[in-house]
Amino acid sequence: MTMDYQKILQEIEVEINALPDDGTVANYIPELAKVSPDRFGMHLTTVRNEHYAVGDSEVKFSIQSISKVFSLAMAFSLLGEKLWKRVGVEPSGNPFNSIVQLEYENGIPRNPFVNAGALVVVDVLLSELKDPEADLFAFVRSSTGSNDVSYNSVVAQSEKETGHLNTAFVHMMKAKGNIVNEADEILDFYYKQCSIEMTCRELAEAFLHFGDNGLAYNHAGFSLTTSQVKRLNALMLSCGFYDESGQFAFKVGLAGKSGVGGGIAAVYPEEFAVAVWSPKLNEKGNSVRGFHSLELLTTKTESSIF
Ligand code: DON
Repeated sequence: MTMDYQKILQEIEVEINALPDDGTVANYIPELAKVSPDRFGMHLTTVRNEHYAVGDSEVKFSIQSISKVFSLAMAFSLLGEKLWKRVGVEPSGNPFNSIVQLEYENGIPRNPFVNAGALVVVDVLLSELKDPEADLFAFVRSSTGSNDVSYNSVVAQSEKETGHLNTAFVHMMKAKGNIVNEADEILDFYYKQCSIEMTCRELAEAFLHFGDNGLAYNHAGFSLTTSQVKRLNALMLSCGFYDESGQFAFKVGLAGKSGVGGGIAAVYPEEFAVAVWSPKLNEKGNSVRGFHSLELLTTKTESSIF
């Protein structure tokens, strides 16, 4: 069935604008609090290379934790199954910056999307690669098909100055033997990764590769098998929204990943990838309007994976 995605995105934009103005822009990273709260953009691209967009879909924003999917794809490509000795694959049921489980679970983070898990993934990249930063940017540029992708050093510095919990995660894991590299090196790389800026279009393009089984997954030399891509999607579905992952599966029904910059990227395998951006977050750190837009999208198109 051919779907009029452009008409559907326009309907979603109208419905979203009529909603109460709920949520708060992330303010624990001071630089992110400066973003205009009323931004809204959405871009959908299909496996047939069609593109549909509304609003601020070509404006760069801080992808934050969405970047954890890219670094995970690289680390999984490098280590294969050995990666899961260092980080688990279970939902945490806790916020992204919670430290409680890390002590009694011996410094093995529940999954690669909570901050502690993403920091282990960075540790792997620093150990395995000669020039991890160059490789990260080569990988994200190849995934998005755009050379115009870099990070915002002011946001990275702002995170560094306020990221006391992230520092605590690294030291706790180092004490428990699950971190090899120096804490400062890991944190500097992690903040660069989180402060990468992309447009909804670029994010949708990059995520489409997780949904197109017809094409080999290989970007800048980092390749994944079809089975590994399936596993990344499973992790996004079960852990991509932290302690709101159940709600996202329940209401949206796609594999996806959020970031505190207000972005969400999601995949409907074999058909489309979509990215949405609206900076105001709910108390779980996920974009209020982003979440709702995707719920409207899968309802209107009947395109949930379930
Ligand atoms: O470390 C942090 O807190 C941020 N750089 C990333 C957190 C984030 O995006 C959580 N996702 N919703």
